[in-house]
Amino acid sequence: MPGIDLSTNLLGAKLENPTVLASGILGTTGALMASVANEGGAGAITSKSASIKPRGGHPNPIVVDAIAEGGWMLNAVGLSNPGVEEKVEEIAHYRKLCGKPMIASVFASTAKEFGECAALIARAKPDAIELDESCPNVEGEFGALFCLNERDAAKAVEEARNSVPKSIPVFAKLSPSAPDIASIAAACVEAGADGITAVNTAGPGMAIDISRARPILANKAGGISGPALKPLAVRCVYDIYGKLEGKVPIIGTGGVANGADAIEMMMAGASAVGIGTAAYTRGMNVFREVCREMEELMEKNGYSKARELVGMAHG
Ligand SMILES: Cc1cc2nc3c(=O)[nH]c(=O)nc-3n(C[C@H](O)[C@H](O)[C@H](O)COP(=O)(O)O)c2cc1C
Repeated sequence: MPGIDLSTNLLGAKLENPTVLASGILGTTGALMASVANEGGAGAITSKSASIKPRGGHPNPIVVDAIAEGGWMLNAVGLSNPGVEEKVEEIAHYRKLCGKPMIASVFASTAKEFGECAALIARAKPDAIELDESCPNVEGEFGALFCLNERDAAKAVEEARNSVPKSIPVFAKLSPSAPDIASIAAACVEAGADGITAVNTAGPGMAIDISRARPILANKAGGISGPALKPLAVRCVYDIYGKLEGKVPIIGTGGVANGADAIEMMMAGASAVGIGTAAYTRGMNVFREVCREMEELMEKNGYSKARELVGMAHG
């Protein structure tokens, strides 16, 4: 739309619009990721999280879709992935098909392994590396998730930051289930994180099939995503932006399903907006549609540049 500028900048990566495909959704093959960017209109892509070795997922059913009835989805995919070597090839294929920025996501079960996995994915020369810290630290107390305490979250960042060239920004992806997500984000930045992605799924949650009187997911519990997550995600982004005084970019993710949600997330402090579940519910074109809705709402409310929305709610 003339007069409305949606472009944004994520640590050197130029995004024609602030929408980013969130990790784990449609981010598997190079061809699919390129379609989401080229045809779907995403400003940038995050690949599905990869680990050093290939990993099978949880048995089916792995998803409960209650978006229409309750505004939420549960998933217990189990971080299935073909391993980081194959992901490097998929990203190379994406690069041939698409010039838009690529954020490569990795996860690991020890801090040291985060460093190793980040170093391996760095060979694909992504525009940024995102550390999915919502996975158990096998060396930590009771195998708690990295993202739930400052020390573990920061250690994973430190290992990754020391293992990849300075030219590749490292984002720490955090969980809304952390007791104080802003302090964890601050610890990650102190350890060298260049940006924060907030948030991953909440929970875990559970849904029960009343006719069988059993949990629906084979894994029983799973992460909560979709519109029900949005107020929690907006508050997390707001707190992180406030604590870090807007000094590092945040990819605000969680329940964004339309242009108003995206603007709200940016006003809370996000420089870019991750979209996952809505790519299921509204299809791959959701990115283009969210941008159109943003433009209409920005014009109506007298805003001309998306970049100027960032942190606006902080006054
Ligand atoms: C089916 C599914 C798979 C996911 N897989 C990953 C993953 O591999 N790595 C990751 O960091 N986040 C993963 N996520 C979390 C999303 O990237 C996102 O943070 C979360 O779903 C909240 O955003 P949304 O409400 O827009 O989906 C997954 C989410 C879903 C629904």
